[in-house]
Formats: sequence, C-alpha cells, structure tokens
Amino acid sequence: MKTVMTMDFKEQLQNEVLRVEEILDEYLPAKENFQKIIMEAMEYSVKAGGKRIRPIPMQESFRMFGGVSKLVEPFMAGMEMLHTYSLVHDDLPAMDNDEYRRGRKTTHVVYGEAVGILAGDALLNYAYETAARAFDMADSEEMCQRVSKALRIFMKKAGIYGMIGGQTVDVMNEGKPVEQDMLDFIFRLKTGALLEASLMIGATLAGADETKVLVMEQIGSKVGLAFQIQDDILDVVGDEKVLGKPVLSDEKNRKTTYVSLHGMKQAQEDVEGYTKEAMLLLSNLKNSQAVCNTEFFENLLVMLIHRNK
Ligand code: IPE
Ligand code: IPE
Ligand code: MG
Ligand code: MG
Ligand code: MG
Repeated sequence: MKTVMTMDFKEQLQNEVLRVEEILDEYLPAKENFQKIIMEAMEYSVKAGGKRIRPIPMQESFRMFGGVSKLVEPFMAGMEMLHTYSLVHDDLPAMDNDEYRRGRKTTHVVYGEAVGILAGDALLNYAYETAARAFDMADSEEMCQRVSKALRIFMKKAGIYGMIGGQTVDVMNEGKPVEQDMLDFIFRLKTGALLEASLMIGATLAGADETKVLVMEQIGSKVGLAFQIQDDILDVVGDEKVLGKPVLSDEKNRKTTYVSLHGMKQAQEDVEGYTKEAMLLLSNLKNSQAVCNTEFFENLLVMLIHRNK
C-alpha cells in the first residue's frame, strides 16, 4: 500500500498527540498525601510517551460520526490509562519480564515490584473513574445513555472477554505450540479489543446507531490484528532505541508469534492485507454517508503499516 502521508498529516498527528498529552495532564491525579508514590508511578508510566494509538482513533471516530463536544475526552484519558496498566503488568517479572518500555526503565524496575503491581491496579481503577466523569458533562438523558453504553463497552473489552482474556491465553501458552486459530484469538483479544473499544466508544458517544458501532468494531479488529502482527515483526527486526522497548522479548519468553508461525514475508503481507480490509469497511461507511471526512483516519492506518515503533 502506497503511503499518501503528507506533511500536513504528520503535523496533524503531532498535534493530536500533543492534545492527548494535555488531556492526560488534565485527568491524571494530583501527587499528594501518604500514597503519593502511587500517583508518581502512574504518571511515570503514562507520561513516558506512547504513540497514543487508542485515544487518537477514539477521537477520530467521535468526529467522523459528527461529535463536537468534550464528552469523549475523559474516555480518551481513561483508555490511555487502561492501556498503560496493561503494559505495566505485561512487563512484570511474572509476565514478559521486560526492563525497558517507552524509552525508560519499566515501572517495576524503578519503583519495585509491589508498587509496579499497585501502579497497574491504580491505573486500571482510575481509568474507569476517569471515564465515568463523562457523566458530569452529559447534559441530557440521551447523552447519559450514550456515556453509559460507552462505559459498558470499555469495561467489557478490557476484561475477560477482551484484553485480560487475551493476555491469559498468551501467557498460558508460552513454550507450547500454538496454532493459527489460537494465535488469532490471542491477537483479537489482547490487542484488538482495546482498539475495537476505542472506535466503538467514539462512535457511541457521537450517537452512531448499533449497526455502525458494529462496523467500527470490525474495523478495530482488523486494525488490531495488523497492529499485533507488526508488533511481532518489530520484536524481531526493530531497533530498541527507536522502539523504546526490548527486541527479542518473544523469543526470550518462547512465545509463538505471527513471524515464527508464518515467516516474515507472510507477516508483512498480512499487515497490509488486514489494513486493506479495514480501509474497505471504512470506505463503505463513507459511501453510505454514515461518516464524513475519513482522510486523517486513512492516513493513520497507512502510517501504522509502516511504523518502526
Ligand atoms: C504495545 O502497544 C502493546 C501492544 C498491544 C502491541 P503500543 O505499541 O500501542 O505501545 P505504546 O502505547 O505506543 O507505548
Ligand atoms: C501485549 O503484547 C499486549 C498487551 C495487552 C499489553 P506484547 O507483550 O507483545 O506487547 P509488547 O511487545 O510487550 O509491547
Ligand atoms: Mg506480552
Ligand atoms: Mg510484552
Ligand atoms: Mg510484542
């Protein structure tokens, strides 16, 4: 797939990232009182500078369906907190045992394992507290219902039928042969679920109907597969300094990856293939005039295929 990235897009993306940082600053807790260290550890991991590839598509989905208010912002902050918790726990000695994340020492390495675990727990809990603040902005019964629906999506996709479910199957099958159907299951849940949730929440808050929200879920699922395949690729061929996390973590943990199962060439082709499928679903939405102005989102998807971090 040809990259159609213009300077405009890069600038726009940079602005979106900055906006997410501002929103996170607004919603992260003040560092105070006897438990101050937990707020410090939360900030340490969240503010380390991730790609923000969940809140940005969430906002874009909200906009594409005509959303204009700030209603989506507490969910954007909550989603990044929840995703960061998944990373903090993923790096723990009992999980992938990695010491480097987002260009810094991992949270448990800096603060010790107990605070590492607690910081993950804290981010998970605070993610929901934060998202629920959208109720304070809802100025009608209709808006309250949208927030309520969005919260349910958020909680379900983060839980045993989503990210946690995927992480469970992932860690339980280290060192064991994993076949395509199970690897697909792991990817859809551990990585796909939060991307699905992000797009579904944006659409739901903007008032999209059930059918459109389901299409956004399918788009998120395709993007999630492409994203995790690329993550597996970068675990082999990435540059640690650019990635900000270790390479060969999967080999160290004897994981079956998309690359070990299908080879590098197939993996690269499938990143493009799944992205094309997502693009097709998006253009169908556009042709039916369900959404407006999909250009930024399309550029974002192309950028993700070629990402090196
Ligand atoms: C890493 O997610 C974990 C996966 C699901 C592959 P990201 O690649 O989005 O990590 P950050 O947020 O940019 O650090
Ligand atoms: C983890 O997948 C996905 C999560 C839900 C955190 P990985 O273990 O491959 O993610 P990285 O490579 O450590 O970011
Ligand atoms: Mg892992
Ligand atoms: Mg990992
Ligand atoms: Mg990985």
